[in-house]
Amino acid sequence: MANNNQDILEFKNITKYYPGTIAVNDVSFSIRKGEIFGLMGENGAGKSTLLNILSGAVPETSGEIIFNGEKLTGNPYERRLKGISMVYQGLGLALELTAEENILLGNETSRGFGLIDHKAQLKKAKSVMDKVGVDFKLKVPVYNLSADEKQLVAIVRAISLNAKVIALDEPTSSLSRNEAEKLFDIIRKLSEEENLSFIFVSHHLDEVFKITNRIAVLKDGKLQQVVNTKDTNPQKLTETMVGSKIAENQQAKKFSKDNPLNETIILG
Ligand SMILES: Nc1ncnc2c1ncn2[C@@H]1O[C@H](COP(=O)(O)OP(=O)(O)OP(=O)(O)O)[C@@H](O)[C@H]1O
Ligand SMILES: [Mg+2]
Repeated sequence: MANNNQDILEFKNITKYYPGTIAVNDVSFSIRKGEIFGLMGENGAGKSTLLNILSGAVPETSGEIIFNGEKLTGNPYERRLKGISMVYQGLGLALELTAEENILLGNETSRGFGLIDHKAQLKKAKSVMDKVGVDFKLKVPVYNLSADEKQLVAIVRAISLNAKVIALDEPTSSLSRNEAEKLFDIIRKLSEEENLSFIFVSHHLDEVFKITNRIAVLKDGKLQQVVNTKDTNPQKLTETMVGSKIAENQQAKKFSKDNPLNETIILG
């Protein structure tokens, strides 16, 4: 982790109501510069909602986010320009366009077009790619790239716009083991060498333990704890996630898996 303990991002008393649900309930924690921060919790715990509030895709019911000392406002595009980027599982890439076109396209909207120096942006993208050893081809259509390369295009796109915080929601779900390892190497390098902060959502305990500096656990929308990764272990963390012993956890999981209505609500 990079050289300081400075916070770059602070969630302050964030709450989000949906009809009949409190998706996020009075959640407060901070992310440091250069940190890889894990966000864990069972299905429906509120992880994606919290990231969507960060990105500006979903408005909070109450609370605020402080970014670099200022209250964070604006739509997702405006927040991206400020340095907050989301890399979604679906990625939002145009598959028939090249990586280079995607890197540029990701930053063009009718509002912002013309404000961005494309040459500078590509230069930044290339220098970061060189530095961290990303070598996907910029000039071929993205559909020719592997799953991890697509993910990296999305990350490089974020970096080319001077992202300071990159949030990844389940980034490895479409990746092979090797691809995931490669992604982790690059995330690590970017946190160490570029001082970028990452918020990493994953269901895979092994991944979270491998890559994060700290971990926050959400349960039913509430923050249970924020711990240094080295001060906890998978069993303790699982117990915090489910709020009880492992045996009960397994039953709870089975219940939610066997319950299609529950799944529908989560996906909806
Ligand atoms: N658009 C929505 N409308 C209504 N309820 C929603 C909406 N989005 C999320 N929820 C509810 O908010 C709660 C938190 O959902 P969220 O998707 O943030 O959980 P999650 O931790 O990302 O879960 P998962 O691990 O399954 O991705 C759930 O109860 C979910 O059903
Ligand atoms: Mg989610």
